[in-house]
Amino acid sequence: MDDARDAEGGAESVVDAVFDAVAAIAPEIRAALPGRRVESGTENASGETVMAGDLYADELLGEAITAVDGVGSFVSEERETAVDAGGSVGDGAYAVAIDPLDGSSNLRSNNAMGTVVGVYDAPLPATGRDLVAAGYVLYGPITTMVIADESGVREEVVESDADGNDAADSGVTRTVVEDDLRLPADPTVYGFGGRVPDWPDDFTAYAREIEDELKLRYGGAMVGDVNQVLTYGGVFAYPALVDAPDGKLRLQFEANPIAYIVERAGGAASDGRIDVLDVEPEGLHDRVPLYVGNEALIERLDAALSD
Ligand code: AHG
Ligand code: MN
Ligand code: MN
Repeated sequence: MDDARDAEGGAESVVDAVFDAVAAIAPEIRAALPGRRVESGTENASGETVMAGDLYADELLGEAITAVDGVGSFVSEERETAVDAGGSVGDGAYAVAIDPLDGSSNLRSNNAMGTVVGVYDAPLPATGRDLVAAGYVLYGPITTMVIADESGVREEVVESDADGNDAADSGVTRTVVEDDLRLPADPTVYGFGGRVPDWPDDFTAYAREIEDELKLRYGGAMVGDVNQVLTYGGVFAYPALVDAPDGKLRLQFEANPIAYIVERAGGAASDGRIDVLDVEPEGLHDRVPLYVGNEALIERLDAALSD
């Protein structure tokens, strides 16, 4: 991975600095959620209702990420266009795409939510092959962060550093609880988005098979549902729907980062035809069907949808 050495030749890479910034902010986002469970009255570029929590997370993360030396461009689910952060992406600077608050419809019901981050070495929109790292924060009973780069996947617990243990004075302590996160070989859970009547017949047939084999775990936030698959093995899908053939999830800041993480954890990621990471985007907010999980389950999915 390319290192943007600071003036003193410091070892911190741009990627490390991006995830340091995200980790430092995670407790602030979490603490702000109780007061931001209402609709903001605005819609985002995807035409979806934006919650007050979405806007606040986007504001904090946008400020912190664009301030990272070596980040040249910033894209967010909550912003129509890319933010120029200085530095030309692709030759030493990186482009960062985020979903500041994933699953914000879970704010009212107090269920898990997350923040998704993709670090690209190319101007956006880009394919997932241009990712150099990806990760997510999961605001569950515990705040955890999963980070994938070319060396593999790790999981950290992120806690507010009330008693000032953190040497870097970031305000948080980060504890690696798994330094080589891999999908379990034997799948256990599945979670499929959308409404059953809206599923195309070929996906419905696949879902019926999976329902006979695995346990249903669907919480309405991609990050929480994917984290279950990474923990227990299985398959997560937000499928193509009869009236929405591109599904719901956005390629740049949801599908690509999750596909990158799952593939580096030994799994597979498909849009129903090809590897998600090979999907050529047209716009920053393109949607794409997303199927991720154990390789054998995704191979069966691809076969089921190609019949
Ligand atoms: P976001 O809150 O960032 O718009 O993402 C919500 C997404 C994703 O987290 C989840 O998998 C999906 O929406 C759930 O959609 P349904 O409510 O249709 O199940
Ligand atoms: Mn989302
Ligand atoms: Mn979101």
